[in-house]
Amino acid sequence: MKGFIILAFIINVVCPEVPKYHVFVYGTLKKGQPNYSKMEVAANGQPEFLAYARTVERYPLVIGTQYNIPFLLNVPGMGHRVYGEIYHVNQTLLDFLDKFEECPKWYQRIKIKLEVQDRVGEGKNTLKNGSIKEAFVYVKTITDDEWLQKPTYESYDTNAEV
Ligand SMILES: *[C@@H]1O[C@H](CO)[C@@H](O)[C@H](O)[C@H]1NC(C)=O
Ligand SMILES: *[C@@H]1O[C@H](CO)[C@@H](O)[C@H](O)[C@H]1NC(C)=O
Ligand SMILES: *[C@@H]1O[C@H](CO)[C@@H](O)[C@H](O)[C@H]1NC(C)=O
Repeated sequence: MKGFIILAFIINVVCPEVPKYHVFVYGTLKKGQPNYSKMEVAANGQPEFLAYARTVERYPLVIGTQYNIPFLLNVPGMGHRVYGEIYHVNQTLLDFLDKFEECPKWYQRIKIKLEVQDRVGEGKNTLKNGSIKEAFVYVKTITDDEWLQKPTYESYDTNAEV
């Protein structure tokens, strides 16, 4: 028991880092959009914002259902290079986002390549302008071509009339 405590102490001192994940948000979780505050509550403060970014590949960003909900369809090569924000989140926040996005039932979490547009800050986690970064993103795997008939957007704004 004592050995375990000492080992735990050493690990904590030598490797104080907790695992963190990069997550790209493109819809209602962005700053100024209706669900950003939910992420703040889950992060118990401001989530760590790293950069504005844009998908390297084109993806269809569509507005699904009458509730004005954005979906990035997992169909690379169609639509636009989509704009959003990269956050650095810990396990607690990632678990919250999985639940919030009803992953895997409603949205599916995959990795996507992003081009960093405008980094923020000078901290050690800062991403370089113009660099390519992989991050998690919540997408919709479509089962029905009807989704592909919808208009596509390069950026989501809940306040814009569509
Ligand atoms: C994640 O960060 C929040 C504070 O922002 C904290 O309450 C929580 O315990 C952290 N989770 C992990 C797994 O470190
Ligand atoms: C986010 O906010 C919108 C309101 O614009 C709401 O309709 C939606 O269900 C919320 N949740 C998610 C997961 O997008
Ligand atoms: C990053 O690039 C953007 C243009 O895409 C520019 O406005 C911004 O000032 C740059 N930021 C830094 C920190 O170099």
